[in-house]
Amino acid sequence: MRIIRILAGLTAACLFPGGAAAGPTGDAERGAEVYRRCDGCHSLDSSRVGPAHRTVFGRTAGTLDGFIYSKALKASALVWNAETLDAWLANPGKFVPGSRMGYRLSDPQDRADVIEYLRSAGKPTQ
Ligand code: HEC
Repeated sequence: MRIIRILAGLTAACLFPGGAAAGPTGDAERGAEVYRRCDGCHSLDSSRVGPAHRTVFGRTAGTLDGFIYSKALKASALVWNAETLDAWLANPGKFVPGSRMGYRLSDPQDRADVIEYLRSAGKPTQ
């Protein structure tokens, strides 16, 4: 019995690396390149047209101090993780109607990479 459970676990881990959402695996280094498309409006440490991103992973949407968000994003109560970021970046206006980020990343690999970049940017460096 035990061996079957272990095998089942291994199979699931191979089929769904990184969790239940079976999207492409992200590459943070490539994500840094993709992020150049965001940096007309965003940066990691200061808010511009859009809010700063350093602490975005795990943050509740629309809550960074000092940035004025749309009512829609503030009211969304979303928490940013790989799944919510993926849906947001694919089509912000559809995912959160009334939000005002006028940019989309249509390629799933670009989204996975930039999400991995944001995740690693939030980790403390040692
Ligand atoms: C044309 C300007 C523009 C571009 C380009 C842009 N954004 Fe945004 N972004 C915004 C604005 C404006 C908001 C705030 C939206 C609101 O308040 O509804 C936002 C919000 C966000 C948020 C929500 C953050 C929070 O604090 O809740 C994330 C995450 C985000 N952007 C990621 C990205 C990424 C990743 C890219 C590049 C692939 C990108 N954005 C490109 C303007 C932009």
